[in-house]
Amino acid sequence: MASTSKKAGHVAIIMDGNGRWAQMRGRPRLMGHHAGAKRIREIVETCPDVGVKHLTIFAFSTENWKRTQTEVAGLMRLFKRYIRREMQDLVDRGVRVRFIGDRVRLEDSLVALMDELELATADNSRVHLTIAINYGGRDEVTRAAKRLAFDVEQGKLSHSDVNAEVLARYLDTHFLPDPDLVIRTSGEARISNFLLWQSAYAEYEFIDTLWPDFTSEEFINLVSKFGTRERRFGGVLV
Ligand code: FPP
Repeated sequence: MASTSKKAGHVAIIMDGNGRWAQMRGRPRLMGHHAGAKRIREIVETCPDVGVKHLTIFAFSTENWKRTQTEVAGLMRLFKRYIRREMQDLVDRGVRVRFIGDRVRLEDSLVALMDELELATADNSRVHLTIAINYGGRDEVTRAAKRLAFDVEQGKLSHSDVNAEVLARYLDTHFLPDPDLVIRTSGEARISNFLLWQSAYAEYEFIDTLWPDFTSEEFINLVSKFGTRERRFGGVLV
């Protein structure tokens, strides 16, 4: 299929570089995560101005449990604090928030807040913010395959019905369009298990800025640059 569509309707961001940002200032890594959390609001607010309907952010990966206990516990506290502090504002600003990732390993108190925020913002549609916590692309596809196999076992589905579209319905992201643009901050050119299935045709931008320094100006520039690219989805331009 060829397309001349130039809109980055869905942008996904790997918010990297918080630790280095803090270390450069001689501060603990957690302080970098706090500074990073503060950047989110401005980027979400910029989305409607540049035609971004969906913003998906990578907050904690299935691999991030390998960090020190202090950092992991600090991040979990930060997620809870962020949800409590931002809830009313997100409701008022028309942001619909949803979470992706495996909730099984998360503390009950965090999961309860995630549910509360999803419910409180369920009627909003100005911007769709999806936050990935305990998310990994391989883990997501594995969990989807398990649920799909279960449905086949139960006779709800035949193996011959399985195709890419059916499998995508079992993914955490079943409610989302595929990302058009994936941005990673802090100079690393890796996708680190983020939206592996969904990013098959996404454009990537790897930029040097550390996440706590990422501004709406830079976001606007990257989205505008995307608008000038040709996307062919493996076909030819018509
Ligand atoms: C990567 O930086 C960042 C993370 C693992 C955490 C991302 C979390 C936030 C931006 C803040 C909280 C988010 C929400 C949704 C409230 P890094 O620690 O790997 O940085 P480094 O590569 O410099 O060490």
